[in-house]
Amino acid sequence: MKIGILISGRGSNMVAITRAVQDGTIPNSKVAVVISDKSKAPGLGKARDLGVKTVVVTRRGRPREEHDAEIVSELKKHDVDLVCLAGYMRLLSSSFVREFTNRIVNIHPSLLPSFKGLDAQRQAVEYGVKVSGCTVHFVDEELDHGAIILQRPVEVLDSDDADTLSERILRIEHETYVEAVRLISGGDFRISGRRVLFGSAVGG
Ligand code: GRF
Repeated sequence: MKIGILISGRGSNMVAITRAVQDGTIPNSKVAVVISDKSKAPGLGKARDLGVKTVVVTRRGRPREEHDAEIVSELKKHDVDLVCLAGYMRLLSSSFVREFTNRIVNIHPSLLPSFKGLDAQRQAVEYGVKVSGCTVHFVDEELDHGAIILQRPVEVLDSDDADTLSERILRIEHETYVEAVRLISGGDFRISGRRVLFGSAVGG
């Protein structure tokens, strides 16, 4: 399975996925390309250090469809089967989503459908929930909405602020994203409505 990873910033989830591919935790796979919409994304250097090809496709004031079309063409050039969004800070156009139906995944730092959008960890602290976490889901045309692949809980402590909660969720994100991509790469799943079913549930 050839993986393309889209980033805009730090790229720690990208590093976790790439390492897991390289050490065989995610078997029979390759990170074919890391694409950033920001030329200064710190994740780009990290990808290069891991020996992964990087491409920068900046928006340059173009309409979303035009920008996305260039990204799609890069992904196709690299024969990408699965697109992982890892801190990619732009909504995808419908045409991008349609080009890779059920082959784009994202990680979000809350237990969806709670706390969609930006600053999910701050939203969780301010709302006063006692448990938050992270969600890996397929990407559809709505923000933070597609079918859920995996979720992991993280307790919200009385002492937490948005930063400390983000740090603890991020550690769990890395494990959860790797596990989700490993499951997807095994191909042993089916999507039934909004439900992603794995293993023994797949036959039914
Ligand atoms: C993560 O918290 C991820 O859930 C969210 O953006 C952040 C990206 O972090 N979508 P990194 O760039 O992977 O370090």
